[in-house]
Parts: sequence; structure tokens; C-alpha cells
Amino acid sequence: MTTAILIAGGAGYIGSHVALALCDAGRKVVVLDDLSTGRRDLVPAAATFIEGDIGDRDLVRRVLAEHGCTGLMMFAGSIIVSESFQMPLPYWRNNAAAGLAFLETCVAAGIRHFVYSSTAAVYGTPDRLPVAEEATLRPISPYGRSKLALEWALADACEVAPTRFAALRYFNVAGADADLRSGQVSPVATHLIKIAVEAAAGKRDGMTVFGDDYPTPDGTCIRDYIHVSDLADAHVLALAHLEAGGDSLIANCGYGHGFSVREVIEAVKRVSGRDFPVGLGPRRRGDPPALVADSARLKRMLGWTPKRDDLDLIIRSAFEWETK
Ligand code: UFG
Repeated sequence: MTTAILIAGGAGYIGSHVALALCDAGRKVVVLDDLSTGRRDLVPAAATFIEGDIGDRDLVRRVLAEHGCTGLMMFAGSIIVSESFQMPLPYWRNNAAAGLAFLETCVAAGIRHFVYSSTAAVYGTPDRLPVAEEATLRPISPYGRSKLALEWALADACEVAPTRFAALRYFNVAGADADLRSGQVSPVATHLIKIAVEAAAGKRDGMTVFGDDYPTPDGTCIRDYIHVSDLADAHVLALAHLEAGGDSLIANCGYGHGFSVREVIEAVKRVSGRDFPVGLGPRRRGDPPALVADSARLKRMLGWTPKRDDLDLIIRSAFEWETK
């Protein structure tokens, strides 16, 4: 296969892991990223890198044509739930408005396969766990709403365009590439495992648990942590499914079981062999008590088999990346 795949946001944490997986599979990859949160050195050497904005229609049109892209994956956007309450309009602009401009350009250019990074945040606080794709969509943050808006726009667009799509709803993504070619980088970390490994690595004095009065066994929130490389595999499979003529699909990406905040922190201390102070703070706005994926569809339709469903392994790779 000689056609190129465009990865929008391929210099970011998840996008760069997917770029690595596609390059490893021998695919031609073009990364488009404005480097607002991504990093140039996370882009695989085998990929072509173009610095620019997904909302820049002329640029996107030119890149798609010049590289003969038939498919694309879209990671670009703003991703922090708590931040989205402070700055809702930038979230709508980055995730929905720029995403829509990108979608329009790509559909008009005749792109056949569109893989979209959606999120478990579209469910809000689910009535039942594990949550399946048919559950009611009731996002409880501007982040979740802005991501869902584009998921819906994509589905509507694909009704009348020759484009087929896969929207992958990520649960909590963590860990790093086994060879440490990429990992999570954020100047101001907000994600639990990233913060805990930073504390273990001595990069911060300690950390805070955001609320221990949730209706869960130890009172702290439960999340389904998925290794970023298993998530990258799901993207490669989703693209192969679309390229083989498969129907559009929406699929959860998680392991189907969760860990509490306290369990994760204990695991980080155990795996790293380092202790650090842990305080207790108030609940953080927009946090559902528990989120666990029903990922039967991903397994059934794409033949996805998790290879790294092991919290210690996820944490070890995140810690190794942090201390690299
Ligand atoms: N937490 C703490 N202390 C910290 C950081 C996090 O207690 O210093 C807690 C949070 O309150 C939450 C849990 O750890 O209960 C996980 O929080 P993260 O920030 O790691 O992840 P989120 O669940 O908020 O967000 C993630 C993804 C989103 C996705 C969402 C689905 O980042 O993109 O899961 O809810 F939409």
C-alpha cells in the first residue's frame, strides 16, 4: 500500500504512538501538528512532518493532495476536562469549530477513511457500568460536549459522502512506548498517572487526591486505564477495517475493569519503589464517580486483543519514560 495516512495532531501523546504503530507497519505517514501542545521530537523519523493548523483549509487541501492521502486520523484538539470549564469557548473553537473546518476540507477532498479520537467523556455519568456505545450520551463538561459535537457532525457527513469513519471513544490513556520512543509530555500535567509518576520521580513534592467521598468502595473515582500502545493498535485495526470496506463504527477503547485513584497511587509507589506525600483535596469539577468500558464491540468488529492489560506494566512504562 503506497497511499499516505494523514495524522492530525501526530506530535501529541496519543497521535505520536499511533504514528509509530503505522510507521512500524510500513505505512507512509504524514503528521500535521501546530505544536501548541505536541512536540516535534515525538514524531517518528520515518514520518513526514508539517507544522500547521487543522483549521487552515488551504494547507490541509494542499497536504492531502501533495501526499495522496486516502485516509486520516484526527487527534488534534484540547483534552483537559477541568480546564474546559475555565475556558469553554477555546474548547469549542479547537475541538468543534476547527474540527469542523478540517472535516469539511477532508470530505470535500474525497478522503475515504476518517478515524476520530472521541472520548468516554461523551457518556457523562453512566447509569450502568461497564458502559456500552448505545448508552445515553450526556456529557457533563464542555470538553465532552465539544468532542461529541464533532462525532455527530462526522457521522452526519458520512451519511452523504463516500467517507467512512471510526470514532474511538478512549477511556483513560496512560503508559509509554516499550522502547520509550514516545510518552506523555505536558508542561503542566493534569492526568493521574502522569502526576503520580512525576511525584515518584521527585519532579513534584507530592500530589492531591481530588475527593474521597464518591460512592465507590474506597471513596475515590474509578477509571479504566488503557495502555497507549494497545490504543494505538486499535487505530491501526480501525483503519484496516475501513480500508477493507468495513462499515463506519463507533467503539469504546478500554479494558473493561477499573482502578480507584487510591489504588493507582499505591501501584505507582509499589512499582517505582518511591514514596511521596499524598494529600486530600475537594472533588474536581466534571469528574464522574466511575467510568469503565464495555469494549466487546472493539474486540468483535476489529479483532482487537489487549496485550498490555496490566496496571503495573502501564505504570512501569510511564515511570521509565518520566525518568528517561
Ligand atoms: N486525580 C486526582 N489527582 C490528580 C489528578 C487526577 O485525584 O492530581 C483523579 C481525578 O479527579 C479523576 C482521576 O484521577 O478522578 C482521573 O483523572 P485524569 O485527569 O487522569 O483523567 P480524567 O478521567 O479526568 O480524563 C480522562 C481523559 C479525558 C477523557 C476522560 C473520560 O483525559 O480525555 O478521561 O472521563 F475524556
